[in-house]
Parts: sequence; structure tokens; C-alpha cells
Amino acid sequence: MSVSTLTLALLASAVAAVPHGSPGTWNRNAAGCGEIILPMDDSVHGAAFNISLGTPPQTVTLLADWTWQITWVDTPDCYGNYSVANCIPKGQNFFNDQASTSFVDDKSQQTQEFLGTDYTPGMEFRNDFGADKLCFHSDANNADLCSNSVEISVSNFTSELPVIFDVGGVFGFAPVAPGYNDTFMPTAYQMWKQGLLGPNNGWHMCGGLKDLSTCYGKKYLTILGGTDTTVYDTGKTHHHPTSFSKCLNSGPHLTLSPPRYNYWSTEWTNFFIGQESFSLRAKDSLSYNATTADPECDGIDAIAVWDQDKFGYGAAMPFSAFDTLVSLTDAHIAYNNNTPGLFAVNSGNASVWAVDCSKVSTFPTLTYEFSHLQNITVVPAMYIDTSMYPGQCLLNARPWDRAIEGAQTFFGLTILSRTHLEFNFETNMIGISPLNSNLYE
Ligand SMILES: *[C@@H]1O[C@H](CO)[C@@H](O)[C@H](O)[C@H]1NC(C)=O
Ligand SMILES: *[C@@H]1O[C@H](CO)[C@@H](O)[C@H](O)[C@H]1NC(C)=O
Ligand SMILES: *[C@@H]1O[C@H](CO)[C@@H](O)[C@H](O)[C@H]1NC(C)=O
Ligand SMILES: *[C@@H]1O[C@H](CO)[C@@H](O)[C@H](O)[C@H]1NC(C)=O
Ligand SMILES: *[C@@H]1O[C@H](CO)[C@@H](O)[C@H](O)[C@H]1NC(C)=O
Ligand SMILES: *[C@@H]1O[C@H](CO)[C@@H](O)[C@H](O)[C@H]1NC(C)=O
Ligand SMILES: *[C@@H]1O[C@H](CO)[C@@H](O)[C@H](O)[C@H]1NC(C)=O
Repeated sequence: MSVSTLTLALLASAVAAVPHGSPGTWNRNAAGCGEIILPMDDSVHGAAFNISLGTPPQTVTLLADWTWQITWVDTPDCYGNYSVANCIPKGQNFFNDQASTSFVDDKSQQTQEFLGTDYTPGMEFRNDFGADKLCFHSDANNADLCSNSVEISVSNFTSELPVIFDVGGVFGFAPVAPGYNDTFMPTAYQMWKQGLLGPNNGWHMCGGLKDLSTCYGKKYLTILGGTDTTVYDTGKTHHHPTSFSKCLNSGPHLTLSPPRYNYWSTEWTNFFIGQESFSLRAKDSLSYNATTADPECDGIDAIAVWDQDKFGYGAAMPFSAFDTLVSLTDAHIAYNNNTPGLFAVNSGNASVWAVDCSKVSTFPTLTYEFSHLQNITVVPAMYIDTSMYPGQCLLNARPWDRAIEGAQTFFGLTILSRTHLEFNFETNMIGISPLNSNLYE
């Protein structure tokens, strides 16, 4: 779930594959060899797919969220009262834990309560734990992969969800920081530990490509336990360590209480519009006055938090850069309404700006540098949105105020549409590679 805006079969026996191979050595033909290929469609809040959970299997639709951790499912448990009628809004997809004969209530983990999640605005995100059988089904090749027991987090709210979501839970994907216990472990991490999946996971999206073929006709592709080396050149991959910095919690976007710091995140070391560089330092931000949210975090490099859901729309940049981009693209304010997480254009707290469609090819390229090691370039076609209002060209850029928003910022679909990402649970490294240019040229 991106943690701050209002944003949420067939069965076969487990494939007992031995995890093997180094990152990027499995391709799509190796299905069953410790990997499962999961094409995904959009839900309101981002990529979603179906799993089956329990015995007999129930279909639960999950939002794929890199910023969440253990798989969480909405259940009719309601703070001691179990009631589908009272705890599940009509039309809401959910998991009925009491209807599964294989569900094991795990009382060894204490109730977990978070304030500030997107799924439960205004109320506590309150969960208990259990374990059950979970199966993936691949729409790419009809493969199935099951674990007889994974730990899951089951909702135990004090009232029903305040809104109906088009998903019944969240498929978390966050890295597991040293010392973190079971309550933090994504399903794919647990299945790697069980020997069912490889440790490395691949992702790319097809929304910005020539066609959807490499995502099997859908908009996104996640491969658990492997990567598709036909869409990128492993020789161009750079691996970046994940930052488990305390400063990840210094801004309003990830203000969970109690705080957590396990996000796939990378040092964001430079930003360019064309050849012009813009400072990312807190002290250089327009509103810096030495009384920021967390002065301890002012000195550190900015941190990019990778997030595929729609909160990650909008190319992030400091205000000074945003002003320059507005000027270079001759943009004008078109709309003042903007709901990050729900709109295809995320301009943060700025207005939505429109540009002249006939001039787009003359606009500058944006360059993002990570860990002083690697650039991702974003061409105008990637940061100009034509989907939100057909016929209009909107700037999909988002000013980021380091002094107010803290060191962390979200990097998502606008920046990643021509990038392949790898998330390795064993090394906690993120592999970043350009997608092969024949996919979009
Ligand atoms: C999940 O399965 C249901 C049918 O059980 C189907 O209607 C829905 O489209 C599927 N959702 C996704 C995201 O595949
Ligand atoms: C359970 O529901 C009943 C009836 O609605 C209510 O009186 C009771 O307070 C609830 N218990 C808890 C623990 O919420
Ligand atoms: C939900 O919370 C209540 C009250 O703390 C507890 O009795 C119950 O066991 C919890 N449900 C689950 C499934 O853990
Ligand atoms: C697991 O970690 C959470 C968060 O730090 C903690 O509250 C919980 O007590 C831990 N569980 C066990 C069994 O130690
Ligand atoms: C600047 O500092 C003052 C307190 O001295 C504070 O009230 C104000 O919000 C700060 N402004 C910004 C933009 O951070
Ligand atoms: C957006 O944030 C900037 C700085 O953080 C502030 O100066 C500006 O007033 C804000 N704009 C709106 C519309 O809230
Ligand atoms: C990224 O691109 C900028 C601008 O072209 C260049 O100055 C910088 O050296 C590049 N960084 C890396 C790590 O290649």
C-alpha cells in the first residue's frame, strides 16, 4: 500500500524445486523451476492478481505493493466478533478464515496495529496472524505453485473497512531487514525460505511499450523467483543496496506508527533536466529554514523508494527543477484537482499542468542518478500523460519539497516504464536495468 494516500484456481501439489541460479539466469521457459510468472492487470490502486488461499481454495484478489510486507487479507474477524454481515462491506472481496479447514490461527504473534495506512484511513490497521495454504496460478503458462503453509496477516479491525476496495488484500513485497521476524515476511520471501522459489524477483511494465506481449497481454509482469532475461541485458544491470535508513520515516509519505524502515529504496544522488543538475540537498530546498521535520535527516542523500502503485506516478523533482520544467515546456495550469494515487497524473501538491502536444518532442530529457552509479533517463513521452484526458498532454511531474517531505520520495510508473527491476531477498539488492529498446522503439 503506498502508505499514505487513500490508496488496496487451480491447485496442484507444491513444486519442490531446489532454489538455484544467480540473479537473471532463469527465463520464462523454466517455469516450475522455482519461479512463477504473474502477469497483472490494474486495480484502482495498482497492479492486482488473484491467489487462492485455504481449503477449499478461496480466490482472493491482491494488490501487488512493494512497500507492504507480509501478505495481508481482509477477514470477517472483527475484534472478537466474527461476522461476514457486520465486518465485510457488501461487494468487498475477502478471505473467510473460519471457512478454511487448513487455517491455523497463530497466537504466538501479538496483534499488530499501525496508524496511518492507506487502507484504513482514520482508523487503526489492526491485524492478527495465521497460516494457511496459498497457491499462485500463472495466466502466462498455466503453471501452479503452492505452499502448504505461509504466515499471513488477517485483519481484525474494530469495525468494517470504511470503504469498499476492489482488492481483498495486499501482496506485500518489502525487503526483510536483519532481525525482522515472521510478521514482516512477504509470501515470496517465505516461499524462497521454503525452497519453493528463487530469491530474485523480476518486474517490468508493458503500459509504455509498443505492445503488451512481454506481459502476456496484461499491463504488468512480476516473476517470483526469477527474471525474464529476454527483456533486458544482464550486462547492463547495476545492483544497488537497499537503504534501511531511519530517515525513510522522516517525511509525511511513510509516517506509519509504529515506524518501519523496510522498503526497497536506493540513494538518489543527482537529477538533471537536459544537462542542468539540480541539488537534492535539504538545505538547498526553497522552504528550508533549519526547522525541518527531522534535522538529523537533512544531511543525508535523498532516498528513492520504489513503488509500483499509482502513488508512484509523477516524476519526482525538487521545486526549483519543477519550475524550470514548467518554463522549458511552456506549461500552463489546466486543473487544480489532483488526487495522487487515483489519477494517472500525480503532481503532488501542485496543480495539473498542460503542454502543447505538438511540442512534446522538443522537450528535455530527465535524468535520475542512483547510488552515484547509474542513470535512468526519462524522455518526454514518458513524463507527458495523454491517458487521463484524451487529446490533452499533461505534465506528469511532481514537485518534492525535501525540507517538508523529508529525505524519501516515491519512484514509480512514470520513471520505470522502460526499466527492469530485480528485487533480491537474499542480498537485499535492487537490480536496475534498461529494458531492451526494441520493446518501445
Ligand atoms: C480474479 O478472479 C475473479 C473471478 O473469481 C475475476 O472476476 C477477476 O477478474 C480476477 N481478478 C484478477 C485481477 O485477475
Ligand atoms: C460484538 O458485537 C456485539 C453485538 O454487535 C457487541 O455488543 C459487542 O460489543 C462486540 N464485541 C466486541 C469485542 O467488539
Ligand atoms: C481478533 O481480536 C480479538 C480481540 O483481541 C481476539 O480475541 C481474536 O482472537 C482475534 N482474531 C484472530 C483471528 O486472531
Ligand atoms: C515480531 O516483531 C514485532 C515488531 O517488532 C513485535 O511486535 C513482535 O513482538 C515480534 N514477535 C515475536 C514473536 O517476537
Ligand atoms: C520555518 O520555521 C518556522 C519556525 O521558526 C516554522 O513555523 C515554519 O513552518 C518553517 N517554515 C518552513 C517552510 O519550514
Ligand atoms: C506545496 O508545497 C510548497 C512547499 O512545500 C508550498 O510552498 C506550497 O504552498 C504548497 N502548495 C499547495 C497548493 O499546497
Ligand atoms: C548521469 O547523467 C548525467 C547527465 O548526463 C551525467 O553527468 C552523469 O555523470 C551520469 N551519471 C552516471 C553514473 O552515469
